[in-house]
Amino acid sequence: MQIEASNYPVAVIGAGTMGEGIAQIAASAGHPVLLYDVSQQQSQNALENIAKRLERSLKKGKITAEKRKQILENLSPRETLGELSQAKLVIEAIIEVLAIKQAVFCELESLLAEDVILATNTSSFDLNKIGSVLKRPQHFVGMHFFNPAPVMALVEIVRSQDTDSDVADTVFKLSEQWAKSPVHVRSSPGFIVNRVARPFYSEALEIVKENGTDAATCDAIMRDCGGFRMGPFELMDLIGLDVNYTVTCQIWESYQRHQRFAPSELQKELVDSGRLGRKSGKGFYEYGENVENAAVENAQQASAPDSILLEGPERLPESLRKLFEGGSVSVQNNSGNGYVRLPGGAIVVPSNGKSSTERSTEIEQTVISVDLCLDYESSSRIVLAPALECSDKDLQQAVGLFQSLGKQVSVIKDIAGMVLTRTVAMLANEASLLVQEEVADSAGVNLAMRKGVNYPQGPLEWAEQWGWDSVVETIDNLRQVNAERYQTSEWLRQKVKLI
Ligand code: NAI
Repeated sequence: MQIEASNYPVAVIGAGTMGEGIAQIAASAGHPVLLYDVSQQQSQNALENIAKRLERSLKKGKITAEKRKQILENLSPRETLGELSQAKLVIEAIIEVLAIKQAVFCELESLLAEDVILATNTSSFDLNKIGSVLKRPQHFVGMHFFNPAPVMALVEIVRSQDTDSDVADTVFKLSEQWAKSPVHVRSSPGFIVNRVARPFYSEALEIVKENGTDAATCDAIMRDCGGFRMGPFELMDLIGLDVNYTVTCQIWESYQRHQRFAPSELQKELVDSGRLGRKSGKGFYEYGENVENAAVENAQQASAPDSILLEGPERLPESLRKLFEGGSVSVQNNSGNGYVRLPGGAIVVPSNGKSSTERSTEIEQTVISVDLCLDYESSSRIVLAPALECSDKDLQQAVGLFQSLGKQVSVIKDIAGMVLTRTVAMLANEASLLVQEEVADSAGVNLAMRKGVNYPQGPLEWAEQWGWDSVVETIDNLRQVNAERYQTSEWLRQKVKLI
């Protein structure tokens, strides 16, 4: 059932970064919006900022002058909480201090109608904890928007143990009416996005610590091979290293300091020394005019081999097979274990979470591992890690092969799980743990990661495409390197059993 926006006033409390955006969304959807902040100046600033944004939208032809006028008329600042009594829904977006949030909600309960829905935009507090002081916790729900709220589609609809399902459904429907992509989630630390995204940063920080590659090359690999809009280091610089570090620490503490969430010493050192990212002019990169950062490492041009042999092509990823089909190097097929045999004798194999050197010893062949790609055919980059005993001649054949197919090639140190392979495996593992714990369902987790942080594909969709067995094999192999950090979820193991 459609909610009639003009008869459904929404109050927004806190007119900072998030409140301002949320007020704009509700007003644009036709709701009368009552905006309250302890600082009246802040409310005024918010209204001016919204007006400026609407002006820009008008100039770009995204909205009409009439629409702009209506949106601005829908917004009205209020000076006290008592003036919010008409509101049917209140969305709180004030500072992240538990006692202050609780006090505001208690006051609202005493001032507003009994059936008003009280929603919080908290990023880090357990809804059960905020709601514990309320008389009517069944009317209390989370609406977790992402910054910038008018642009980002995801809204995590967070339920406490007491939240009435009708209340969660109402705000879910409202978010849909606001052209957002809502996802139901049970209150648990980090909700979906802030928890599932942890390996995106933590694996990258480990890779650099292990000297696998440098930050610029790691970012290029995540963008070019993984289809992520930004690499982990440039994203941490944008978010602020201090903010990102604090979220990591909160989640690490909430999950009994599990090794997979452990904060990185490298990141802490940078935070302690004031290198906070873009906002301080320096983070993993330096910012400003005439600043030159380290370049992405690309392999020198090498000559392609005349031919390659695909041993067990059906066991290679489909997009890798297709990539070879379209090239100028002659391809022969044979039976085997899914190896790309180079004329010099070495084999190129997709990483399985073991180092190439370890794999070489095991199978008594010279291994050059190739990192995962979202799609090998369309990826502009291929990443290789040669085993220690791999000769330069063999490596050059592998480099030349991929260059002849139009790829940039990065050769990294022989670390277990390379870059994208271990990151995607751990993103999928975290997503699967969340589903296993019934915090959200698979579709919700996938949607949240696509809409909340622009992942090219949901982590579980990606795991399915890659192969559940390959994900499990990768994490099990990484476990040999660090048994406390890499632990495969039961949910993933079940998926493999069902294949
Ligand atoms: P902000 O600092 O930009 O704005 C907070 C506003 O709350 C300020 O204008 C302040 O004057 C006002 N305020 C403080 N105490 C108040 C009270 N007792 N009553 C009324 N107003 C009060 O903060 P921001 O970034 O907008 O965050 C707000 C909430 O949204 C926090 O809970 C935060 O965790 C959450 N959040 C923030 C995101 C972000 O990227 N900034 C993303 C998603 C959620």
